Amino acid sequence: MNENDSLDERMTSPVMGEKKSVDPSSIVIFGASGDLTSRKLIPALYHLFCAEQLPTPFRIVGFARREKSDIEWRAELKEALDKFSRTKPVDEKLWETFSANVFYCQGDFSDSKAYVKLEKMLGSFGNEALRRNLLFYLATSPSQFAQVVEELHGAGLLSLEEPEGSWQRIVVEKPFGHDLPSARKLNADLTRFAHERQVFRIDHYLGKETVQNILMFRFSNSIFEELWNRQSIDHVQITVGERLGVGGRGGYYEEAGAIRDMVQNHLLQVLSLVAMEPPVSLDAEAIRDEKVKVLKSIRPLGKGDVEKQVVRGQYFAGMIDGQLRPGYRQEEKVKTDSDVETYVAMKLFLDNWRWSGTPFYLRTGKYLPLSASEVRIQFRQTPTVLFAAKSGNQLDSNALTLRLQPNEGISLRFNGKVPGTSLKLRPVKMHFSYDTEFGAYTPEAYERLLLEAMSGDATLFIRRDEVETAWGIVDSIRKGWEGKPLSNREFYSAGTWGPVASDDLLAQAGHRWRDPQPIQ
Ligand code: BG6
Repeated sequence: MNENDSLDERMTSPVMGEKKSVDPSSIVIFGASGDLTSRKLIPALYHLFCAEQLPTPFRIVGFARREKSDIEWRAELKEALDKFSRTKPVDEKLWETFSANVFYCQGDFSDSKAYVKLEKMLGSFGNEALRRNLLFYLATSPSQFAQVVEELHGAGLLSLEEPEGSWQRIVVEKPFGHDLPSARKLNADLTRFAHERQVFRIDHYLGKETVQNILMFRFSNSIFEELWNRQSIDHVQITVGERLGVGGRGGYYEEAGAIRDMVQNHLLQVLSLVAMEPPVSLDAEAIRDEKVKVLKSIRPLGKGDVEKQVVRGQYFAGMIDGQLRPGYRQEEKVKTDSDVETYVAMKLFLDNWRWSGTPFYLRTGKYLPLSASEVRIQFRQTPTVLFAAKSGNQLDSNALTLRLQPNEGISLRFNGKVPGTSLKLRPVKMHFSYDTEFGAYTPEAYERLLLEAMSGDATLFIRRDEVETAWGIVDSIRKGWEGKPLSNREFYSAGTWGPVASDDLLAQAGHRWRDPQPIQ
């Protein structure tokens, strides 16, 4: 695209100003009747098509148990798209062209004959590449991964020896197991008939523009790059706040809790990007090597450390927007005496040269006052000898805040002299807003991720060793919680920033949480 292209045109492109090279290929979605397919995957593929990012030709095949025709499935998807599309109204003409490439294959995951049918369908598409370049999206329960993979192999659609000049890839989503042993088993299942390089594990946080920018920001700006270490940074706060409760997902949440649902993946991924060393190149493996090193450098948490460094929380009934929200224990499918955490805060140390002694505070929770995710880099204070007396507690240390969502942007906070005859100082702020600078550019993470998987770039996907190392950390924390019910200091009212115990965690070191603000 060039400067003369209209703004609208550029805004619809998931990779501004650049077209990814993607081979003609077929995308097969297992679990085609599920929510993920209609809410996220099909809208993402439709938008990629609108932005002319899908290859020519391409095919999408939905594989699921229910009996239905191609026409019926397309109609269902259209209905969902009308509801969930990020651009409205849906362009009828483009949808017509797009959906002519969408097919349905009825079958049970455990039925070998269904895979033979799938193989035949792919073979009937008329273009050799559509039969040979295959992306299998497993939007199924992880308990079905092993079977699907084995059956695909049996039908000759997936193998460790990809036929010359073609590719076969698997895309999966969390949960990647529920602890280290189950994650290892899952990874072993996935790589029985495929190499690790054929497996693309999604963490949708890595599809977020602002999360990707962490790396670019750090390593392309010398003024920050030079300060990004223990000498200049006092501590780091990573907050992923959610204003919603667990809603209808009580059953799932009882099994997962905030630590498996959010920390094992999203928070530890953000932490890796914030703390990693510069990679030797921008290749997927170089970047992932550095990320995994960060996870490996996290100081192990023994039982006693968990007590001192990790806080759980659970919401009780409280007001949000003037409305009373139920406590977690009153949510559907939740035990009335459940000790499952809807909030976690932790203090981690990275035992490596760059970060030795610098605390990294991570927190996430449901029913907090605001849905907002931020990384806050709190710099060290200057000596207070000169201004403290004049400025009192107004003198604050510098902070750089990377606002990941919403109101995406970056703010730098520093002190400025209040105009006038006094020597008073006050914190002021410089702010960069993505919207103001680049316009409202809001592609869904799935658009970017699907495109990357189709083009074979694994940078934004989680490698096996990252998953397993992250589980090691989470498992040690969960071990520390075993047999310990929540204490009174670990409950918080819905609509507040978490339990008192979480404030205490920071207060030990003279720190305090800096809560994200509604408008940046
Ligand atoms: C998901 C979790 O992975 O991430 C949800 O399962 C959570 O519980 C969601 O709400 C948050 O994602 P986002 O993109 O809204 O920050």
